[in-house]
Amino acid sequence: MAKESKAEASNTGKMFATGLGILMATLGSAVGLGNIWKFPTLTGTNGGAAFIFIYIACALVIGLPVMAAEQMLGRSSRGDAVTAFRRLAPGKLWWLIGAGGVLAAFMIMAFYTEVAGWVLAYVFKSMGQGLMTTDPAVTSAAFGALITDPVRSLGFQWIDLLITGAIILMGVTKGIEAATKRLLPLLFVLLLLVSVRSLTLAGAAEGLAFLFTPDFSAVTVNTVLEAMGLAFFKLSIGMGCMITYGAYYRNDQNIPATASKVVLSDLAISLLAGIAIFPAVFAFGFEPAAGPSLLFITIPAVFSSMPLGNVFMVIFFALTFIASIGAQISLLEVITAFLENTFKLNRKQGTAITLVSLALVGSLAALSNSVLAEVTLFGLTFFDLFDFASSNILLPVGGFFITLFAGWFWGKSKYFAQISNEGSLKNEKAGKFLFTITRFVSPVLVLIVLLRGLKII
Ligand code: PHE
Repeated sequence: MAKESKAEASNTGKMFATGLGILMATLGSAVGLGNIWKFPTLTGTNGGAAFIFIYIACALVIGLPVMAAEQMLGRSSRGDAVTAFRRLAPGKLWWLIGAGGVLAAFMIMAFYTEVAGWVLAYVFKSMGQGLMTTDPAVTSAAFGALITDPVRSLGFQWIDLLITGAIILMGVTKGIEAATKRLLPLLFVLLLLVSVRSLTLAGAAEGLAFLFTPDFSAVTVNTVLEAMGLAFFKLSIGMGCMITYGAYYRNDQNIPATASKVVLSDLAISLLAGIAIFPAVFAFGFEPAAGPSLLFITIPAVFSSMPLGNVFMVIFFALTFIASIGAQISLLEVITAFLENTFKLNRKQGTAITLVSLALVGSLAALSNSVLAEVTLFGLTFFDLFDFASSNILLPVGGFFITLFAGWFWGKSKYFAQISNEGSLKNEKAGKFLFTITRFVSPVLVLIVLLRGLKII
């Protein structure tokens, strides 16, 4: 009892104020570069609709139960990724899941801040005329010049870190909740605007066909691993981010409903990003499989080909940057909350240490295309290694253990008490369904995809 009241007290003032705020903050974490940069890139390189189809299956069968489980673990323990497991399983090693999550947050932030930095640079670049060319060779040279310049790479990354750090410093309610509540609707409207523009171009139909007519012949085990990794990444799960946010949830928040809304809205926004990008890519005869540079090389050329392209390009990069903010603050919060609770720091100290350490680790990714281009581990630059290891290994492994914890260690009665808000929600059927999937289906699927994808079996 004493322990519990202390746990509550240490979190006083650290709660999302309203149900809508909870939804927006959580959705703000899910929606980000994952939707606007990774989803189109991977869809493009993996052949379109078939990949989307597998992604949707992963999001529903693995993503939803893991997200709900994390939020429940966070809310019932009122702890960060590590503290939650320490409180729910004292004296046991389960806290290592949370430690892996904090490590994943570092790895993701290291490359994420770099891409967000490029996006920020492009907001300014697209205001001038430099990117207004339909020749991908020119846009490619412009992108190459940016990423191989160590000073600009680091500079934009650090500006990005300072912006996100400032929001984190303002706290859970006044920082995270207030920022995401304002940014998300703006993001949605801007994305809708660009989608309508893209859809009304002559030749848009081919892009839609690419997005919605599946061809499963090109699907390999690797495609499935990529799709699952993307689901973890896009939904911010498998690394304690949803545990950290769950700790700020109100006791009367309907968790299965919230998680479902987040998964579906995140999917809708990804598809909208696809609709904003691919019809235009096809209409102007560009290559959908351009890879990570799709956003920075193909997209400017596409915008340059359309009326009012300059304006739409500024809007597009601004909305992408806005989307990245909500996701980044949730990643920062995982680290900051852990530091605050574990080392008894105040928010200022926690944020400062997080920012400084991220600037250091992040520079490894930021310099991957210049000074450190020749330094590789397992054949990957730091940038690619952080990206691959986090999405395709750390998050699925984390998700696997989270489902084991929630489905087996924590067990039925505690799971049911949380999912139904101690019985006040009459959602027994939904609860049973989610519990069964959490217990039997998700862990098995994650394990098979992971082991096959990494060629272990
Ligand atoms: N979901 C975020 C995105 O799509 C990235 C993210 C991953 C955020 C993990 C938090 C935790 O951009």
